[in-house]
Amino acid sequence: MKVRKAVIPAAGWGTRFLPATRAFPKELLSLVNKPVIQYAVEEALASGIGQIIVVISPFTNAIRDYFRPHPELAALLRSRGNGELADEMERLDRMADIIYVVQPERRGLGHAVLMAKEVVGMEPFAVILPDDVIDAREPALAQMLRVFDSRQAGVVAVENIDRSEIGRYGVVRTETVAPRLHRVLSLVEKPEPAKAPSRLGIVGRYILTPQIFEVVESIPPGSGGEIQLTDALSVLLKRQGLYALEFDGRRFDTGSPPGWIEAQAAFGMKNQDYGEALREKLRQLTSYE
Ligand code: UTP
Repeated sequence: MKVRKAVIPAAGWGTRFLPATRAFPKELLSLVNKPVIQYAVEEALASGIGQIIVVISPFTNAIRDYFRPHPELAALLRSRGNGELADEMERLDRMADIIYVVQPERRGLGHAVLMAKEVVGMEPFAVILPDDVIDAREPALAQMLRVFDSRQAGVVAVENIDRSEIGRYGVVRTETVAPRLHRVLSLVEKPEPAKAPSRLGIVGRYILTPQIFEVVESIPPGSGGEIQLTDALSVLLKRQGLYALEFDGRRFDTGSPPGWIEAQAAFGMKNQDYGEALREKLRQLTSYE
């Protein structure tokens, strides 16, 4: 079956970014000139997925407002002769068929994904965590969809994580079946670093079968008292198998200030107009105190 839908959970507290995230979700923090959630929507579209389901919190409508068409803005820009930016605004107006579902309480990622159950229905779907922005020649999700097409089982994106940070991730024990592709044998959420089964940590891209919903409904809260997607994956892998892909690309964790700043620098330096100048300024900054 083809994957046609992507769920983007964006209802978290964003505590690592407080106080900035008191009034708006971290998914709207800008990476250069676009909110990080837009990179997630664009990755889904570039991977051939046109139906986007965004999970939002009941406390703010800011994400919905951002993607709402603003035809008057494009008209204004055009009347001022700024056709290029007007085109960009119109592209955003048409961007995607976005459906919003509300997560009434922040009970964890597994619970956030569960909120999309009715809209997803009985078909496989993708999950994109928008704070993990991946810069890749071929979108990471598209790479994973190829694995799903050939294996017809769930796929998670994994990356080699430094041992000092492995305790913050879901970690997989695997057997390798092809270059950069592994069959998952077991997984554990936020292991003690010394007990981590490998250095392969799950990052924010998943392709899941709809059976995940009934599993999430049946599991108790796990690490941190939250309903963890990783715990549901542990159950699902025993029933249907699960693959882990070391995708080709570079991931930035924009959900915390250091990762976000690193991403700003990396994406800024790629800018055609001011990238070179910025690179030089950043070089000078290395001796700034
Ligand atoms: P994070 O683990 O980054 O959690 O969630 P968080 O609460 O947003 O941020 P911190 O750790 O407090 O700083 C990963 C993704 O899952 C969403 C978040 O919005 C983010 O995109 N999420 C998390 C939900 O939608 N609902 C939840 O209950 C938890």
